[in-house]
Amino acid sequence: MKKQIFLIVLAFISCQISAQKFDLAPTPPMGWNSWNRFGCDVSEKLIMQMADAMVSNGLKDAGYEYIVIDDCWQVARDENGEIVVDKSRFPDGMKYLADYIHSKGLKFGIYSCAGSETCAGRPGALGHEYQDALTYARWGVDYLKFDWCNTSTQDAKSSYSNMRDALFAAKRPIVFSICEWGTNKPWEWAGTVGHLWRTTGDIVDRWDSMTGIFDKQNGLAKYAGPGHWNDPDMLEVGNGGMTIEEYRTHFSLWCMLAAPLMAGNDLQNMSPDTKAILTNREIIELDQDTLGLEGFCFRNNGDYEIWIKKLGNSEKAACLLNRGDEMKEVQVDFNILLKASNNYWSQDPYSLENYKLRDLWEHKDLELKSNPVFIKMPPHSVKVYRFVKKG
Ligand code: GLA
Repeated sequence: MKKQIFLIVLAFISCQISAQKFDLAPTPPMGWNSWNRFGCDVSEKLIMQMADAMVSNGLKDAGYEYIVIDDCWQVARDENGEIVVDKSRFPDGMKYLADYIHSKGLKFGIYSCAGSETCAGRPGALGHEYQDALTYARWGVDYLKFDWCNTSTQDAKSSYSNMRDALFAAKRPIVFSICEWGTNKPWEWAGTVGHLWRTTGDIVDRWDSMTGIFDKQNGLAKYAGPGHWNDPDMLEVGNGGMTIEEYRTHFSLWCMLAAPLMAGNDLQNMSPDTKAILTNREIIELDQDTLGLEGFCFRNNGDYEIWIKKLGNSEKAACLLNRGDEMKEVQVDFNILLKASNNYWSQDPYSLENYKLRDLWEHKDLELKSNPVFIKMPPHSVKVYRFVKKG
C-alpha cells in the first residue's frame, strides 16, 4: 500500500515536472547572453543597457525575451553558504536587476555551474543546489544556464537532474539550460531534465567554428522537439569575426535547426545589417515554427548543400548553402525540393501550384516563370525560401 501511494505521488510529481517543462519552451528560447561579446566584463549598468536596447532596437518585438548574465557575477559564499554577488559591479543586487528587466516586459536569466567552481573560477553550485534555486526564485530568475566546469567525477545526468529538482522545489518556473558541451551525449537523457542542452564546445566568432558546430548537429534532430531543444551554442552575429554574408548564413542555419536564438552581441551598438539579420522575422518564423522539427540535409554536394525544414500547415522551408570560397551558379528545381520533403514525412497531397514561393532574405515573392531556375550564390552565402500555402 505504502509503495502504491509512493508511486502515485511520484507519477504526480513527474507529470508536474513535464507539464512545467513543456510550457516554458514550446518553441526554442530567444534572448541575449553576455558571454560572447563581454566575457567577464558584466555589470548592472551593462545589463540594464542591454535590456533597454532589446526593446528600443525591435528585438523584443521580433520575439527575443531573455536577458541572461553569464559567468562572473558571483564572487564568494557567505558564512551561511549564500552566494555573494559582486557588489562593485552589481551595487543594487540581483532582485533590483530582475525587477528592472521585468518592468521592460522581458525575462531574467543567470548562470551557474554544476561543479565546485564556474569556468571562470567563481563559486559553483555543487552542494548548494537547493539553496541557490531558492535564492534565484527569490530574485525573480526565469532562466538558468548551468555549466559543467570543475565537476571532477560527477555524473552528468544525476548532477543536472539534481538541479532540475532543486528548481522545481523552489516553485518558480525557470527555463533550465544544460551546458555540458555534449560531453555525455545529453540529447540521450536531457529531454526530461532541461529545456535545452548544448551539443558541442564553445562557438568562436569565425566561419570555420560556426560551420564546424553546424556539422556536429548531424543525427541529433530526432532528440529535439517542443519543450526540449538541441543547443548549438549562442549566436555570434554582429561580433565582427565574420562577414555580413556569413552572419546571414549563421542565423539561417540556426533557424533551420530550430536552435535557441541567444544573441551574443552588443545590442546598443548594432550596425543596420546586424539588426536586419537578428530581427528578420521571416527567418525567425522558421525557427519558432510550432511543429518544432529540425531541418535535414536533402543534398550534400560537397560545398553546396540543400536543407529542408517541415513547417506547420504543410508549409516548408528550403535553405541553399554555398560553403565554398567561390561564387556558384546552382540549378534549383523547386518541384523536386517540394517532393523530396514530402517523402521524408507524410505525403502531402499538394504540388507547386498550391504554394507561393517566398525569398526570406529578399522579402519578396518569387515569380517562377520557369522551373528549374539558375541562382547565383556568393561564397559562404545562403538562399532561404518558404513554400507558403495559397488560400
Ligand atoms: C563555458 C561555457 C560558455 C560560457 C563560459 C563562461 O565555456 O560553455 O558558454 O558560459 O563557460 O565561463
